[in-house]
Amino acid sequence: MSTNVLIMPGSLRLGSYNRRLASEAMRLISVTDAVVSRIDLADYPLPIYDGDVEAETGVPHNAQLIAQRIAAQDALLIVSPEYNASIPPLLKNTIDWASRVRKVQERPVQPFKGLVVGLASASPGRFGGLRGLEAVRIVLRALGAEVLTQQCLVPRAAEGFDENGRLTDDVARSSLETLCEKLLDTARSLTRHG
Ligand SMILES: Cc1cc2nc3c(=O)[nH]c(=O)nc-3n(C[C@H](O)[C@H](O)[C@H](O)COP(=O)(O)O)c2cc1C
Repeated sequence: MSTNVLIMPGSLRLGSYNRRLASEAMRLISVTDAVVSRIDLADYPLPIYDGDVEAETGVPHNAQLIAQRIAAQDALLIVSPEYNASIPPLLKNTIDWASRVRKVQERPVQPFKGLVVGLASASPGRFGGLRGLEAVRIVLRALGAEVLTQQCLVPRAAEGFDENGRLTDDVARSSLETLCEKLLDTARSLTRHG
């Protein structure tokens, strides 16, 4: 059975470094035997989580679609910026809403439970989004995900990509390759969907 991998950039910005990094990961994984796809959160707008909205109208359809898509994966690669040393609201809000989805097509589901998750970040700063990924890690672990220790950081991202979108720095390129390999190896060994 093939391994399904979803790549989720945590930025909507058109010129986003993290979207570029997600494209590089997509390119690397697409030459393996895994089935890789990408989710653009701009296609699934969500209100800020509000318990009253949930109580009155239920979990929004877009959150259900995202949860359904995640639940069908063996692995998820999140490629997200760091905002004020933490998780950006777009990503946190998406995870919060998806974590409220209890059933997909009448079947109980916990989208993140047992999901193998890899983390990557690009930032124009010196730390490459390191602190933001720590925050993402805490959130996903709380939801039962298997978050890989291996991660990819691209500091000084303004100079981090060439005109073809390839990573210019050897360390960053090698860490993305290692992360993608580890993500696939771990997902294959854990076989979430039996
Ligand atoms: C509200 C806000 C907070 C930010 N905080 C940080 C930060 O703590 N560390 C950092 O490296 N960059 C920070 N940045 C800069 C982002 O890394 C930069 O805007 C980056 O390009 C966003 O990712 P993207 O290119 O994928 O959209 C911040 C940006 C915003 C808008």
